[in-house]
Amino acid sequence: MALERLDKYVAQSCLITRKEARERIRAGQVSVNGQVCRRPEQHVDAGRDEVCASGAVLESPRPVLLMMNKPAGVLTASRDGRERTFCDYLPEKYANLPLSAAGRLDKDAEGLLLLTDDGELVHRIISPRWKTEKLYYVELDRPACRADAEAFASGLDLGDFTSQPARLDILPGDGRACHVVICEGKFHQVKRMFAACGKKVLLLRRLKIGTLELDKTLKSGEIRQLSEQERALLYEMTGLL
Ligand code: URA
Repeated sequence: MALERLDKYVAQSCLITRKEARERIRAGQVSVNGQVCRRPEQHVDAGRDEVCASGAVLESPRPVLLMMNKPAGVLTASRDGRERTFCDYLPEKYANLPLSAAGRLDKDAEGLLLLTDDGELVHRIISPRWKTEKLYYVELDRPACRADAEAFASGLDLGDFTSQPARLDILPGDGRACHVVICEGKFHQVKRMFAACGKKVLLLRRLKIGTLELDKTLKSGEIRQLSEQERALLYEMTGLL
């Protein structure tokens, strides 16, 4: 049995704020099992009760899961008075939801950002306990070398912490383009790991979070919902299915 407050259920199903949901409920527009219910605090069973708003049956609400191709120059934060944040790119219907990013990207970094209102999923993705792998494409000011890959693999002393073993694959070419896989997400981690090897990161793009890959057709700044398969794989990966 999954009991939820009626205002929360209506807000999530209709993608409106709780305040708007309460207004609709108090106005008599919402019914539960055929009876008008004007009490926002009423609990409903998401699996059993039939909730209707203005005569239409509401689908049982599910967490929102969005993939964004974050451009460089955008903050991984909710609204900020002066700087652009991911909220400035959200389609209108998601604008009122309490979305957060499952793993931040620096302002100058780009690529895969997973946005959701599922707090437990965010926790499991960012918690070191779950060791979720993040794959980054990196361009450096100088070529990486085998010694760097070995240092990444054995863990780097970064002053306030030692990084967990990470993978550095040097891509074909002049050695300045690499793939990096880390299981942690400390502040500026990839940049600091390269800095410890005497290299500066010029471009940082996240390509993957666990099972979720950045959609190559998603243009910079675009946002889309996850497919059913992407959702299922993420929940399976985090043990929440
Ligand atoms: N590592 C960094 O240095 N920056 C990011 O944004 C992500 C990982």
